[in-house]
Amino acid sequence: MLNKEYDLYLLAKSKGFEAYVFFAAIELDFFENLKKYSGNLSLIAERLNCEEQFLRLLLDVLLRLGLVRSEKNNKFKNNLEYESYLTDGDLSIKNELLYFKRESEALYNLANLAKGNYQLSSRAADMSKVYDFYIKGVLESNQIIVDETINLISFDLIDAALDIGGGHGEYSKALLKKNKKTKVSLLDINKAKSLEGEPRIDFIQGNAENFFIDKQFDLIMINDLLHYFSLKGKKQVLENACKHLKKNGQLLVSKFTHDNRCENQFSTNFSLYKYLLNDKAYLAYDEEIELLIDQFNFSSVEKTYLGDEKTIYLLVK
Ligand SMILES: C[S@@+](CC[C@H](N)C(=O)[O-])C[C@H]1O[C@@H](n2cnc3c(N)ncnc32)[C@H](O)[C@@H]1O
Repeated sequence: MLNKEYDLYLLAKSKGFEAYVFFAAIELDFFENLKKYSGNLSLIAERLNCEEQFLRLLLDVLLRLGLVRSEKNNKFKNNLEYESYLTDGDLSIKNELLYFKRESEALYNLANLAKGNYQLSSRAADMSKVYDFYIKGVLESNQIIVDETINLISFDLIDAALDIGGGHGEYSKALLKKNKKTKVSLLDINKAKSLEGEPRIDFIQGNAENFFIDKQFDLIMINDLLHYFSLKGKKQVLENACKHLKKNGQLLVSKFTHDNRCENQFSTNFSLYKYLLNDKAYLAYDEEIELLIDQFNFSSVEKTYLGDEKTIYLLVK
């Protein structure tokens, strides 16, 4: 993903005032019209059936954001670095950017959602359109803990490993670096661009809750995935992972640290946010995950905290 495209996603995701001006410009087809009518505001106002003064003020915000440039004779142009993303064509990401507006609509309807009076638009729950932007952000925040996490694993006998919800593939790549003989399968519902040209990672498109691979693994990783599921779903994911794990195999589970004292701002907010956008998915307290783990009779359970943010469980079958 190019930096300019990424900037646009960041603006949309910020959900601040300027993001709403940006959404309005996209929904009005402002960028398309600016391209067609060479920056003549009166003409554009007429075409869009909008008040000209309103459009001028909206344009001032877009100018300040650097999405539009002013030319001589009171004319304006789209900033060419962004234009292809904001107008129709192969590179257009207009719909993807509006995904974040739909996300905000869910937040404004929190009370209605709680009462079951609000139907979440299915677009708001479907990440696939904005997956590359999303997974780049996940990678940026998790990159610094990948090696520390991988170092918790015992590397004596790991021929086959499975990375469930492996996303960007950085954990799989770290495994491959540690042990040249290991074969890694990465299972995810989405395929990240960062996996292209990685012949040693076998990508499997599948759902963590119900996939079947005709093979058992020495190591299975479930990093930052369980918050995508309801409690029942979390149990199913763990159950399915266990089915694919060899006897004495290791299961590594990492999650954002969260406990029922709720002192961590990120975790409390993130948990409710996930519930809003995905059907009954939430970030479980560590205690809940431990109760689930207890149901599987692992021969060994080790818990490690990485900083204040991550709790890692290394389980042996
Ligand atoms: C937060 S990212 C974690 C990526 C990586 N494991 C990490 O810890 O940095 C979650 C990943 O899980 C994937 N995912 C979400 N729901 C899934 C499901 N039902 N089955 C498989 N993968 C899923 C997403 O596509 C995404 O790549």
